[in-house]
Amino acid sequence: MLEVRKATVEDEDKIFKLIRELADTVGFAEQAPLIDIGIWSATLKKMLSSPDWVFLIALEDGDALGLVLFFVRPTLTTGMNRATITEMIVTEAARGKGVGRSLVEEAKRHALQMGCSVLAVSTELDNAGATGFYRKMGFSEERTFFEAQL
Ligand SMILES: CC(C)(COP(=O)(O)OP(=O)(O)OC[C@H]1O[C@@H](n2cnc3c(N)ncnc32)[C@H](O)[C@@H]1OP(=O)(O)O)[C@@H](O)C(=O)NCCC(=O)NCCS
Repeated sequence: MLEVRKATVEDEDKIFKLIRELADTVGFAEQAPLIDIGIWSATLKKMLSSPDWVFLIALEDGDALGLVLFFVRPTLTTGMNRATITEMIVTEAARGKGVGRSLVEEAKRHALQMGCSVLAVSTELDNAGATGFYRKMGFSEERTFFEAQL
């Protein structure tokens, strides 16, 4: 049976595998040689211990099938909080079976509990799969996202 729960430091290896699969899937695997495992592990621990970050992991019979992580920040204009998904992955073999839906529904529930009025996500322009999925999950395109390389 599928279980979606908050991830902890005990899940570090599972999280690492899922993030590696995400990197391979969305095409930033070329950055992988830059990943220093010590820095990765320390950064993960910092994020997991922060009250502003939520990691949700989907498991079946102990196997990790998916992950979504988001952070919460206040907005000056409304005083409400806003949640932003930064990473989301379902393992290739588990796709199309509702795991992604369960992760997003659980992310919405946690974000609401944390005083958020919005759950946002950005994805690569050429990621048609993710775009279709997010539309299906009730997300709509509200903004254009710019970034500058520093
Ligand atoms: C996008 C992703 C998370 C979806 O997870 P999933 O477990 O396959 O999705 P689900 O099975 O829960 O699907 C939920 C709904 O979205 C729809 N959906 C899923 N993938 C879709 C796609 N590629 N195009 C259109 N709709 C899609 C499903 O049909 C389903 O709708 P339904 O319930 O009405 O049938 C998964 O495909 C994935 O990990 N992709 C690679 C990584 C990625 O692109 N991550 C996002 C980057 S931010």
